Order: sequence, then C-alpha cells, then structure tokens
Amino acid sequence: MDKIKNIFITGGSGKIGRNLIPELLKAGYKLRVLEFEPEDPPYDFNQVEVIRGELGTPGVAAEWIKDMDAVIHLANVKERRGLFLKANIQGTFELLDACLHAGKQIKQYIQAGSDARAGIYFNPRPYPIDENFPHSAYPGYYAFSKVLEETICEQYRYQYGLPITVLRFSWVHGEDDILAHATTAEPHFGIPVWSELAVTQEQKLAVAPGHDAAACLCHPGGKPCMRHIVALPDVIHGCMQAIENDAAIGHAFAICAPSPFTYDVLAGLIHQKLDLPIVKFHMENYYDFQHDLSKSRSILGYRPTYDIEKIVDAAIAYRMSGQKRSLCKYPG
Ligand SMILES: NC(=O)c1ccc[n+]([C@@H]2O[C@H](COP(=O)([O-])OP(=O)(O)OC[C@H]3O[C@@H](n4cnc5c(N)ncnc54)[C@H](O)[C@@H]3O)[C@@H](O)[C@H]2O)c1
Repeated sequence: MDKIKNIFITGGSGKIGRNLIPELLKAGYKLRVLEFEPEDPPYDFNQVEVIRGELGTPGVAAEWIKDMDAVIHLANVKERRGLFLKANIQGTFELLDACLHAGKQIKQYIQAGSDARAGIYFNPRPYPIDENFPHSAYPGYYAFSKVLEETICEQYRYQYGLPITVLRFSWVHGEDDILAHATTAEPHFGIPVWSELAVTQEQKLAVAPGHDAAACLCHPGGKPCMRHIVALPDVIHGCMQAIENDAAIGHAFAICAPSPFTYDVLAGLIHQKLDLPIVKFHMENYYDFQHDLSKSRSILGYRPTYDIEKIVDAAIAYRMSGQKRSLCKYPG
C-alpha cells in the first residue's frame, strides 16, 4: 500500500471519533472531518479541515473524499427508525460509491462495525464468537443497520475489489462508563437498567435515590453473567493498527478487551476499590458471550491491554479527576 497521508473521517465528534482524531494527528495524518451537529466539534478543529454535511445526501460524497487517500467511516445513528436508512445505509452506499468512482485513489476504507451484528446477549452463543459467525442481528434498528452496512461493504469488496476493512467494536467503555453501568446510583449507562430488575427489598433499596451498590448481574439460577466489552484506548489502538495494514484489507476484525468479564468479578472489584456493597440482580434471557480475538491478534497485530480491572481503575481515576461525563447519545 502506498503511504496514506490524507484521511477523511465521518463521526469525528462521536465517542470514538473525538478520541481517534488526536491520535491520527499525532501520527502525522492530515484530516478532513465530516461534522453534522451544529456545535463546535470536541477536538482541536484548528488542526483539521472540518466540513459540514449529512450522510446519505446524494452527490456530495465525491467532494468529501476528493484528494483523500483513506476513509474512516464512524458516523451513524442508532435506534432511529425514521433516520437509519438514510444516514446509515444510504450514507454507507454513497461513500463507497464515491470511493469506487474515484478509481484507485482510496487505499483504505475502514467501516465501523459492531458485535451487535452477531446478536450477542440476546441469543445463545455457547462458544466464542469469531469473525465467521453469521450475521444475526438482535432486535431493533441499530444491529439491523450494522448488518446492512457490512453487507454493502462486502458487496463493494467482492464486486469491485474496493480496499475495505471492517472493525467490529464491542460495547465501548471510556471515561467512567463502567461505574455508571455497574453501580446502582445515577448516572446510568447501558443495559440492563437495575431499577427495572429490582424486586427484593435489598434490590429496591440499592436503586433508591441516595443509595449505591455494585450490581452483580446473574442468571435466574444464580450464575454470574459474562460479557465482552472494550475500552476506548483499545478501540483507538485497533483503528491505528488497521489504517496502513495491507493484510487487513478485505477482512472483518473483532475489537474487544483481552478477555470477557463476569459480573461477580466486576462487582467484587468495585466493592474492593470503592467499598460499595454487592447486590445481585437476576435477568432472564441474558446469554453469556465472548469473542475470539485470534484473527485480530494475528492479522491486525491487535494487542488490547484493558482487562476489566484496568477499565475499573481508569473509571475511578476519571471520577477522582472531577471531569464531567461527555454527553452520551446512545448508551449501548
Ligand atoms: N460506542 C459503542 O459502544 C460502539 C460499539 C460498537 C460499534 N460502534 C460503532 O462505532 C461507530 C462510532 O460510534 P460512536 O459511539 O463514536 O458514535 P456516537 O453516537 O458517539 O457518534 C455518532 C457520530 O455520527 C454523527 N452523525 C449522526 N448522524 C449523522 C448524519 N446524518 N450525518 C453525518 N453524521 C452524523 C454524529 O454527529 C456523531 O459525530 C458507529 O458506527 C457505531 O455503530 C460503537
């Protein structure tokens, strides 16, 4: 692959984009970023070319990618029935079609995928999910859309040989997300919502205003649930590994933590480090899952370092620093 110098990025103001942009700048790339929201982007926009636009607008993507060597497509909308076809599906199509018509100009096109495409905890997954596991989205428009986005990519790859790499992120944790998720006090982040599972006196007290506890999610029989997430720094590392990686082209890769965690271990860490009591919650129809990272490790050279303890430690440090949580558009 010829050296990549200029990268076009969508979703620069998003959770991943605003953290990836500084790393790309540090690595010396010149960036053009598509911004959709009216506010100023949450990164140093003096160092990048910011253009305003909306995904799925016909005929504009050719101008967006003009003089670019690579595309990193991160922008999308989540559970928005009225918007996802235009933003996610037509948006991906317009970008790929512009890359196709630009001839050999684009050397790498990175598509943000998601493990939602494999159904994860909504469906039984009794063995590690690898990249060959068939698309099988869980209900809703988000996972459906991630399957459709990848399918468009696969066809542009097969039909026209476009240099496409798909990075399938697990649920991304930055800032103090893991504490917002796994403690019962506000703020709350992600699924499940503990107050919706509270039936015993102990559980109801734990979710009452002014109370806090480390939540241990269990199956109805009492076995702690297992989940595989990823820390934001490992996501950024995965993206950086992919950009100029010839061997990555044409493949999809799982981007997740070095190993899955179980909620008893997570609740134990929070108990030990923050002295919160542990309260068990039980959820029906939650299926344990974990991803197989062999392919990402061997082809991408992906080396994630954030296990669950490091994720908890980083979240505690974030809280101690007094920084405020960023606005979260989609809790995951
Ligand atoms: N955050 C996660 O847990 C997670 C997990 C797996 C996969 N992903 C995928 O990674 C990518 C980035 O995720 P994120 O969490 O950073 O997203 P985010 O929701 O934080 O940001 C989305 C970005 O898309 C932009 N956008 C929305 N609608 C647009 C439109 N119509 N036109 C142009 N831009 C538009 C927003 O302005 C924003 O910059 C997405 O494709 C997402 O599906 C994220």
